[in-house]
Amino acid sequence: MGFFMGNLDTVQKAQKINCNFKGKDILSLDQFSPEDLEILFSLTRKMKIMESKGKTSDILAKKMLTLIFYEPSSRTFGSFCAAIKKLGGQTVEIQNPTQVSSVAKGETLEDTIRVFEAYSDAIIIRHPIAGTAKAASDAAFFIPIINAGDGTGEHPTQALLDLFTIKEQFHALKNLTVLFAGDMLNGRTVHSVLRGLSLFKGNSVYLLSPPSLRLTRADFTMFSQRGLKLIEINHESQIPKEVHVWYWTRVQKERFSDLKEYEKLKNTFTVTKKLLEKYANKNMILMHPLPRVGEIDREVDKDPRALYFRSEIRNGMYTRMALLALVLGKIS
Ligand code: CP
Repeated sequence: MGFFMGNLDTVQKAQKINCNFKGKDILSLDQFSPEDLEILFSLTRKMKIMESKGKTSDILAKKMLTLIFYEPSSRTFGSFCAAIKKLGGQTVEIQNPTQVSSVAKGETLEDTIRVFEAYSDAIIIRHPIAGTAKAASDAAFFIPIINAGDGTGEHPTQALLDLFTIKEQFHALKNLTVLFAGDMLNGRTVHSVLRGLSLFKGNSVYLLSPPSLRLTRADFTMFSQRGLKLIEINHESQIPKEVHVWYWTRVQKERFSDLKEYEKLKNTFTVTKKLLEKYANKNMILMHPLPRVGEIDREVDKDPRALYFRSEIRNGMYTRMALLALVLGKIS
């Protein structure tokens, strides 16, 4: 939220807010501490149990949330909508605003945010340009902004659900060895999960990508300075057996100006049954933020270690229920 001189109530309310969730924008994994994640994951577990028992909550009753998605989405849009409605809240849903809203007539992002904040208790925004969620937060006077993915920047709520899924499996987020494969340069989920892992001690990260899709050197240095042990590799044969998590990603077609280059790179690394047999241990987990477009063979889906359809997607809804309850609900 931006600072608004004209509304004393809002300023006073903001001053009273002292927890790291209530009333806060959710823009980056960098804003969280390990303790914050524990608060969130504890409530996520409660949401999961509540759902499994068929119970309901009205913690978001009378809350209206606007989802404004300038880029396509299945999981993030769908799970936020489901999370809001399961907690008794309501939604204004704007998909493809450049076609269906006054953005098509030239209305700026800032004005668009100010319009929808007049109707809403929070805005959830996805945008193709990194930094746009922060720009939306600067534009909003009164309400929290939630980043649902900003270009090649970050995808904090995806990282929260991924970290929850890893913790569910290994009961800790420290002393893990994690492999990221695919598009390190453009993959915003990778950028956010790495931030999350860097909060905990003893984590080692293997990064498997074509040379042109490595992390930027600035990001590589930044994550190393935060204490992550980063090892860049360029062939599957370099994946050590002890890796706990394989986090596979799609080469991000929409970030390429030259589609010929994308075609060259898109199938560089593919998970097959054979690859798992050769390089993965029996207790590891295979994750993918999805969508996949060929980089995990469908036959791998049956492997019990493949969690993307088993738990990762559903955990997205529970994590977002918990997050919204903390940001907007009566829980502090
Ligand atoms: N994981 C993810 O962000 O998926 P969507 O693009 O479908 O929301």
